[in-house]
Amino acid sequence: MNYIQKDRDLIWHPFTQMKDYAQRDHLLIVRGDGLFLEDVDGNKYYDTVSSWWTCTHGHNHPRLVKALRDQSEKLDHVIFSGMTHPSAIELADELVKIAPEGLAKVFFSDNGSTAVEVALKMSFQYWHHIGQKQKNTFMYLSGSYHGDTLGAVSIGGIELFHAIFKPLLFDAIQVPAPTGNSLDAARSALRELEIFLTAESNRICGLIIEPIVQAAGGMNMYHPAYLRGARALCDQFGIHLIADEVAVGFGRTGRMFGCDHAGIAPDLVCFSKALTGGMMPLSVTMATQVIYDAFYDDHTTMKTFFHGHSYTGHPLATAVAAENLRLFREDNVLARIEHLSEYLGHAVRTRWTSSNHVSNIRHIGMIAAFDLRKDAASDIPYTSDDRIGFEVYLRGLEEGLILRPLGDTIYYWLPYCVTTADIDEIITRTLRILDSLH
Ligand SMILES: Cc1ncc(COP(=O)(O)O)c(C=O)c1O
Repeated sequence: MNYIQKDRDLIWHPFTQMKDYAQRDHLLIVRGDGLFLEDVDGNKYYDTVSSWWTCTHGHNHPRLVKALRDQSEKLDHVIFSGMTHPSAIELADELVKIAPEGLAKVFFSDNGSTAVEVALKMSFQYWHHIGQKQKNTFMYLSGSYHGDTLGAVSIGGIELFHAIFKPLLFDAIQVPAPTGNSLDAARSALRELEIFLTAESNRICGLIIEPIVQAAGGMNMYHPAYLRGARALCDQFGIHLIADEVAVGFGRTGRMFGCDHAGIAPDLVCFSKALTGGMMPLSVTMATQVIYDAFYDDHTTMKTFFHGHSYTGHPLATAVAAENLRLFREDNVLARIEHLSEYLGHAVRTRWTSSNHVSNIRHIGMIAAFDLRKDAASDIPYTSDDRIGFEVYLRGLEEGLILRPLGDTIYYWLPYCVTTADIDEIITRTLRILDSLH
């Protein structure tokens, strides 16, 4: 079969202008191994974005492969309403132990957007059950991204993705995000949040945030003081704090969870992506006992949470996720990340700066990012006609690097199996790309 032609004929890819495809073929990837993806011609590419931020340990980790195989020989699927199965229970047990304190109940779904939808619905319904029916909307940060379903888009702050859908969305309140990692930025955003809450908290169910890094919005890394302040304000004004850890959960920022940087616990948390190390689609929403208890009653009171999906708690996915979390513990992955993170931070700060296209270098854990400039010294940006992010993506492929710029922001989101030598090589190739830009 001519796969590429068939793909062009039949498939509509996500976040892709399909007309670009008329000019160049997509890569046909046939194998994954650790840090690398391999195409049908045997070319290898460093997966510097962990396959859309999912492949924590690299591709095809033998323990995850084995967990998947073992589970598939025992149980493929079982309806999760009225039934249960061991790997879901093992996973829930592990999650409750490691999640920020107080998150006592685990609700399964199968992608990050849906985990967010579940959190919004749980929060909304909670307030309804306790008699605060005037609470009917949410607050979210400018530049935030929580997924592509309509509820998640309603609390999304990226105009390019979200503006066109406005007529379909519920009316939510945007508050300014802390921009950059300074304490001043955190304090100023908190002052704004307090002003909005003073005026509006009566009708607000919760504030949803991406802890520590606003990822899709351009890798905005902010100060943990913002999280601490937001937690305090949510308590003061009686609204939920919802942490969307879909992107940053499971070691990405150097701590197990983004919230851990501030030592805070949200009322609801969303996990997905790295939960299964990229091997299976799975997500969870975790809630406090207080929220759960508001739904727990005789069925005649109609307090059931009427939400679920065909693949809720899928046994193959939960088995892989449970093994993934065991791997974190037994291989002491967080300690490895600490060492790698230090190396990565130092390497990008010392080497990226040699290019005059690099501006605003930032780093946390296993994420490093910069903004592309035509001339960084004079802060001259590229224009949208330059389509520079896309250009860097294409040149990355020629260099054997899978980079996936967010507009003009270039970033690494490295699998934790990366070595310091790999980091050096990835930076060398990135610099060659930058040298070739006009
Ligand atoms: C913070 C955050 N929340 C939610 C999502 C949506 O997850 P999914 O793409 O699995 O629906 C993403 C995806 O990038 C994300 O970064």
